[in-house]
Amino acid sequence: MILVLGGSGLLGSAIVKHLQHQRYPARVLTRGMGDWRSSNIPSLKQLGFEVMVGDMTDSDVLAKAISGCTGVIHAGGSLLQSDPKEMKAVHLDVVSELARLSELAGVQRFLHVSCLGASERSASTMMQYKWEAEEIIKAAPFYWTVIRPSYFFGDSFPFLKVLMPVLKLQPFIPIPGAGMSEVEPVSVDDVANVIVQSLYNRGAVSKVYEVGGPVTYTMVELIELIKHYMKIRTPLMNVPSDSAGKSAKVFSKLLKNVHTDLIGLMTADSACSGDEQELPVALSERTLEDALPKIIQKL
Ligand SMILES: NC(=O)c1ccc[n+]([C@@H]2O[C@H](COP(=O)([O-])OP(=O)(O)OC[C@H]3O[C@@H](n4cnc5c(N)ncnc54)[C@H](OP(=O)(O)O)[C@@H]3O)[C@@H](O)[C@H]2O)c1
Repeated sequence: MILVLGGSGLLGSAIVKHLQHQRYPARVLTRGMGDWRSSNIPSLKQLGFEVMVGDMTDSDVLAKAISGCTGVIHAGGSLLQSDPKEMKAVHLDVVSELARLSELAGVQRFLHVSCLGASERSASTMMQYKWEAEEIIKAAPFYWTVIRPSYFFGDSFPFLKVLMPVLKLQPFIPIPGAGMSEVEPVSVDDVANVIVQSLYNRGAVSKVYEVGGPVTYTMVELIELIKHYMKIRTPLMNVPSDSAGKSAKVFSKLLKNVHTDLIGLMTADSACSGDEQELPVALSERTLEDALPKIIQKL
């Protein structure tokens, strides 16, 4: 039995489809948000999965969810998590508890979803937590694989939701720093395919897979692309960031209720290193630009 965390999320939903295709038995842990009509529980059950309702930040819930599982796919947590305490709880504390409990339960295989750009020196707090979490997983005794996707897109593009408050600003859209950080938006289905094809693949053990899309955009190029499809004509303006503090001050004056890690995410690279690597499955050539018109229509 494989425990899937985050199986109701954008990436998790794609993972469970691939698991179902391979007929791998799995248990999905979900808080089961929403009323009975929008709940993801019936659809997960219809796909043939065991569903357990609970919050992954609760250690007792995690222990029960892991019991009887030999493998874990951790795709829980959200890019949209903005509250600093919750961000740490979801991206770091859960992982350390999950690693401890997995070891106790005798889990053998562990697939961990991190993020391209995860680094202890990243400008983004979330990327720093992702790096720390990777270190915990790599030190654990089970057979691990770390998957590092760049920002992914499917029916939606969560990174666009993070950027949205900035795109709505007038008379200019502020870009912290030079706007030259690089991102490689990738199809969520490609990321899910890499994960599920890694599961029973000996060659994937102790590997860190970088999963980026076919086009590399600088932050300025990405925002110009989104502006084009959203028909936004507001000009961009670089906000000097010789010190992160200056950008933060400008942003906090202009914006309220934005993602607390906004500047970090806009200035952190999330692109492949260019090091040789062979993924367990070839990636498609799906580009964000092809998907963007539909994503924007649904906003
Ligand atoms: N989105 C991106 O572009 C991107 C890029 C790189 C890496 N990642 C990483 O990929 C993973 C999945 O991202 P996603 O975009 O698919 O996420 P998502 O659509 O926002 O879904 C979040 C998932 O995490 C679960 N979750 C459980 N407890 C949670 C909690 N306390 N707070 C928030 N979520 C909780 C949710 O389950 P329930 O609501 O059913 O409980 C849901 O299944 C995350 O680790 C994320 O950091 C995302």
